[in-house]
Amino acid sequence: MPSSFSIGRWIGLTILFSLPGLLVLAGLAIWAGLDQGSAAAAGLVVVCAVGALTLIYYRDASSLRRYLQLLNSTPPPAANEPRQPKLGSEAGRNLLGEIVRLRRSWLQREGRLERGLSNLNQVIDALDDPLLIVNGNRTVARANESSVQLFGEAPDGRDVSVMLRHPDVLASLDATLADGRPRSLEITQPVPVEQAFEVRIVPLREPGTDTGQGELAEAGPAAVVTFHDITSLKRSEQLRADFVANASHELRTPLSALVGFIETLRGPAREDAEARDRFLGIMDEQAHRMTRLVSDLMSLSRIEQDEHTPPVEPISLVPVIKGVIDGLELTARERKMPIRFHVPDTLPTVYGDADQLAQVFQNLLDNALKYGREDTEITVAARVERTGRRRTLAISVADRGQGIEKDHIPRLTERFFRVDPARSRSLGGTGLGLAIVKHIVSRHRGRFAVESTLGEGSTFTVYLPIAASAKGSAAPPQQSAAL
Ligand SMILES: Nc1ncnc2c1ncn2[C@@H]1O[C@H](COP(=O)(O)OP(=O)(O)O)[C@@H](O)[C@H]1O
Ligand SMILES: [Mg+2]
Repeated sequence: MPSSFSIGRWIGLTILFSLPGLLVLAGLAIWAGLDQGSAAAAGLVVVCAVGALTLIYYRDASSLRRYLQLLNSTPPPAANEPRQPKLGSEAGRNLLGEIVRLRRSWLQREGRLERGLSNLNQVIDALDDPLLIVNGNRTVARANESSVQLFGEAPDGRDVSVMLRHPDVLASLDATLADGRPRSLEITQPVPVEQAFEVRIVPLREPGTDTGQGELAEAGPAAVVTFHDITSLKRSEQLRADFVANASHELRTPLSALVGFIETLRGPAREDAEARDRFLGIMDEQAHRMTRLVSDLMSLSRIEQDEHTPPVEPISLVPVIKGVIDGLELTARERKMPIRFHVPDTLPTVYGDADQLAQVFQNLLDNALKYGREDTEITVAARVERTGRRRTLAISVADRGQGIEKDHIPRLTERFFRVDPARSRSLGGTGLGLAIVKHIVSRHRGRFAVESTLGEGSTFTVYLPIAASAKGSAAPPQQSAAL
């Protein structure tokens, strides 16, 4: 018998339901002359029949109640479902059937919801951008993996400020929690490495509300805070601004010199033939400097434009380098700096743009002649290097100049960077040569390395992938290859 079944209650119900019948029988015995014996027998039959019926329905109702209580206290999975009761009445069995169907559909719905939630959690964790879901009482409801990496573990049930210390973000978060309006701001996170983020704070609305004004849940999820890394964007904005400022400055200097000399030639030096010749010489030099600068700038922008389409034609580098060396022979002789070219008998081809690669070696040899010491040799050497199954062609240009300080080496390929700006300018340098080299090598999907020892000299090496026609070498570089 189910535990909620009570005999006292069953007897009470039997008496209650038998009462109308018993009253009718008593009436018949008193006023209609039904003899007392028959009335008592009929009364007993009524009580027994009502008792039996009540027993069946009351027991079914108690069993169903108990079953529902068990269902309520049994969490899924369905494997440990409580046993269904055996019921005496058809109505009870029908009711049980409906209950079982309802339970099954709830379990299915719950399963779907759980799967949806788990997918959502995986999506949140897969996001690259750190994301926090904050409750109405400023505790952290959810922190995805990127945010844990950036801010550390989310404190359980503690204020978000334990994780997120930036005062501007906290102030904006408070404002959003108070008025339910989205906000965004830019912040800089100084540690572990300086990073800039665009922070967006979006309120979460209770389902069914559309304005969200003042309707944020008291302590449930109330706002989503995302951090989008804009460090490289900021850096490239800064680089662009610096580049424009540098280029204008570089152009303005020779331009002002030209304007100044023109004024002098028109005025005080009008009749002075000797001064005129000297000034014209300087003007010629300044005009050439401007021409070099403009041509380097144009060349840089052209290379940048097609940097994502690497050359696909295999070429031999030997004639390219020889051509450059021949062109510099006069300068090399003047500076008493012979250029030696060491090249193996056979050199594999590379996928390359001959004009651009000539520009690379022109710039490197020009630098070696400018910054190398007079009466010393410049060595150009080509060799094949193997890294794993990949073979690359390494061409190095070495001088015996004053060398470059270690701290300056990583900055050499920056536009307009010069170790000694005055010296570079006096030698006719634009400060763009190595930036051009870097971009051309990068278009060729190659690598550029600088080694230098102060007082001894510097070696600039260009590594280029060997063309597929050569044995054991790479396929043409893919357009999508990363730089
Ligand atoms: N072979 C070298 N030896 C010493 N310093 C060099 C050498 N090549 C380049 N540098 C340094 O790198 C700077 C940048 O070179 P580059 O971009 O070619 O500009 P530029 O030659 O016009 O000054 C030079 O100003 C110079 O300070
Ligand atoms: Mg140069």
